[in-house]
Amino acid sequence: MAPPSSYYIILFLLLSLLSHTAFTFSNSITLPLSPLLTKPHSSDSDPFHSVKLAASSSLTRAHHLKHRNNNSPSVATTPAYPKSYGGYSIDLNLGTPPQTSPFVLDTGSSLVWFPCTSHYLCSHCNFPNIDPTKIPTFIPKNSSTAKLLGCRNPKCGYLFGPDVESRCPQCKKPGSQNCSLTCPSYIIQYGLGATAGFLLLDNLNFPGKTVPQFLVGCSILSIRQPSGIAGFGRGQESLPSQMNLKRFSYCLVSHRFDDTPQSSDLVLQISSTGDTKTNGLSYTPFRSNPSNNSVFREYYYVTLRKLIVGGVDVKIPYKFLEPGSDGNGGTIVDSGSTFTFMERPVYNLVAQEFLRQLGKKYSREENVEAQSGLSPCFNISGVKTISFPEFTFQFKGGAKMSQPLLNYFSFVGDAEVLCFTVVSDGGAGQPKTAGPAIILGNYQQQNFYVEYDLENERFGFGPRNCKRKA
Ligand SMILES: *[C@@H]1O[C@H](CO)[C@@H](O)[C@H](O)[C@H]1NC(C)=O
Ligand SMILES: *[C@@H]1O[C@H](CO)[C@@H](O)[C@H](O)[C@H]1NC(C)=O
Ligand SMILES: *[C@@H]1O[C@H](CO)[C@@H](O)[C@H](O)[C@H]1NC(C)=O
Ligand SMILES: *[C@@H]1O[C@H](CO)[C@@H](O)[C@H](O)[C@H]1NC(C)=O
Repeated sequence: MAPPSSYYIILFLLLSLLSHTAFTFSNSITLPLSPLLTKPHSSDSDPFHSVKLAASSSLTRAHHLKHRNNNSPSVATTPAYPKSYGGYSIDLNLGTPPQTSPFVLDTGSSLVWFPCTSHYLCSHCNFPNIDPTKIPTFIPKNSSTAKLLGCRNPKCGYLFGPDVESRCPQCKKPGSQNCSLTCPSYIIQYGLGATAGFLLLDNLNFPGKTVPQFLVGCSILSIRQPSGIAGFGRGQESLPSQMNLKRFSYCLVSHRFDDTPQSSDLVLQISSTGDTKTNGLSYTPFRSNPSNNSVFREYYYVTLRKLIVGGVDVKIPYKFLEPGSDGNGGTIVDSGSTFTFMERPVYNLVAQEFLRQLGKKYSREENVEAQSGLSPCFNISGVKTISFPEFTFQFKGGAKMSQPLLNYFSFVGDAEVLCFTVVSDGGAGQPKTAGPAIILGNYQQQNFYVEYDLENERFGFGPRNCKRKA
């Protein structure tokens, strides 16, 4: 099978360009957060390339989040990052002395893992600008504090379940109470790739704070996955859970495909601030998924009440807005998806409303739609002042997220066509709804300050210019 065109992308880690400073205050840690940019393959002159790629990677990501395999406890799953390149990256320092590694920030998964050992092998990782033999890796031997995780260690249970005898069958034998076996190795699968390795405990270092015995995945083999991932989901193994963070927040700088690189901040709140709300933010409660599917428990669910297009309340059937007892439906917030995903019936209602309000004013560009994978698209050539309807997500409790225009209509191709940056899949004959019906992607979080208030189980957001002051 020929590799998909998205295979030829540059995962352009900007880390070397950015300062590696982290700032600590008494009760919080601030880290620089950088967009992962890609450039089309040098021989690729397709003007739709990056948008097409973002649209298809958003769909792959949505498919993955919706259909994650929950059958095997030894297999955790997380998305395909080389495809969903529209993510954001942080640097973390592990070990003694500290070794710095880049990680993609992911609120849709929980394990923190990175390329590891001098034998690290990245297969199908020949991305332009990435030499698979030169991917920076963590060297456990060089860290005086690195330890293999033992099978009986309760942290082994984060991935392999609380029952010691089932995760360490060799320890079952009589007289083996002192069983010194290591925790089983993990395999993380995703759409087009995978990563595998073993679990380590080591110090996670921040200026002024060290987290001892932090659980981290040391991957020795990856397929199509050149960078590590920092899982910020709700699982016990995630960074926020292991550090017992009270809140974390970020402000996503624009990663529009034409922008110059910038970074912003990721703030980790270590000590309690009670129920103080951050100035300028609106809040909506997190909600839990009523099903017993542990995969869905890793996600950050919020309750979307309304989608408003130019003052018109689009009537979304209830079953999409709330997760049912089977776990399907509802809305999650995801830092690892680029464009927001909506289940086909929801997407159709929203897109039709935009068409109804814009179709007479601007000519539709179906050719661009076919080439970019986004729809609807409108030609605004020669128009003096463009006037598009507002687009607002309204959540439980009344919090309204009114999107800046360029968060939901993006210039595609030659800057005279604007396309709606929400994606959907399927159509007639698609399998029935599975997993979250709406995934709020990072494109729709650009230039918002976003706070995950874990202590008070609520999600806060407010418009902000996210560029860091130099
Ligand atoms: C690990 O230690 C070896 C030997 O001391 C050294 O050559 C190598 O550069 C170190 N690697 C890292 C990533 O620190
Ligand atoms: C287990 O280890 C402890 C202390 O290291 C020792 O006292 C005990 O005899 C060991 N038990 C077995 C069954 O080996
Ligand atoms: C979830 O599991 C509990 C206990 O195992 C059970 O009582 C409950 O009915 C389950 N809920 C669903 C929605 O399956
Ligand atoms: C947009 O409309 C202008 C004027 O009608 C036309 O010249 C141009 O080719 C259109 N753009 C695209 C991408 O079709």
